[in-house]
Amino acid sequence: MAPEEDKPKEVSGSGTPQEPGGSQKPQAPGATSSGSTVEGSPRRTPAQASLIDQLAARGFGYVDDFVDAGLLEDLRARCRSLHATGALRPARIGRGAQERFAPEVRGDFIAWLSEPELDAEQRLLTRLEELRVGLNRGLMSGLEDFHGHFAFYPAGAAYARHSDRLVGTDVRAISVALYLNEDWSTDDGGLLRLHLGSGHQDVLPLGGRLVAFQSDRFEHEVLPARRERMSFTGWYRRRPLEGFV
Ligand code: OGA
Ligand code: MN
Repeated sequence: MAPEEDKPKEVSGSGTPQEPGGSQKPQAPGATSSGSTVEGSPRRTPAQASLIDQLAARGFGYVDDFVDAGLLEDLRARCRSLHATGALRPARIGRGAQERFAPEVRGDFIAWLSEPELDAEQRLLTRLEELRVGLNRGLMSGLEDFHGHFAFYPAGAAYARHSDRLVGTDVRAISVALYLNEDWSTDDGGLLRLHLGSGHQDVLPLGGRLVAFQSDRFEHEVLPARRERMSFTGWYRRRPLEGFV
């Protein structure tokens, strides 16, 4: 069986109605205090180069230390505080009239990041914008923008096998997840399982690790987490193909 060619047959990803209306254009690289750009041109880091190579070769990949330890700590604290203050909402599945709350399918709590309030959030969006530019250069992907959310899986939560390509729209091109966990081990569960044509590839949600994959090629799932599991997850989007939607 070639899952790549299948239409999403189970649940679709998080619903667009939850997404902020406007596109998220992180501040221009070069204008950041992160020190990650040189003379206004985005830095092509070894991590970025490795991710691009992996995506070109097999449609998915991951790199460690996508953000530095300080930024990782700030983002983890932000995700925890969003959870503690009740700012996260139970994630929903489906789109439009089909959108619904289905905790048996998807047990995470999310908060979309539309307007960054914290320096850490801005720095993350800047890093993701640099990656967008790198992917467009390296893979000619035509990625236009990015939408993402913090995600918090309480102990016991999972996300059943699904495709991120929402029914009726083809704009999601590349899915990414940056994990914010501390000291994660296989015993903690919560692995991302990517279903390949033959077999699967599991990715441990280690803090600082960024996984990326082509949204239309891989069904995937989050195996039940045995402790709280945090991430920042999102999608690089491209313009709808004419006549397709
Ligand atoms: C998603 C998703 C994967 C992960 O949010 O659509 O599949 O590892 N997340 O968190
Ligand atoms: Mn997904």
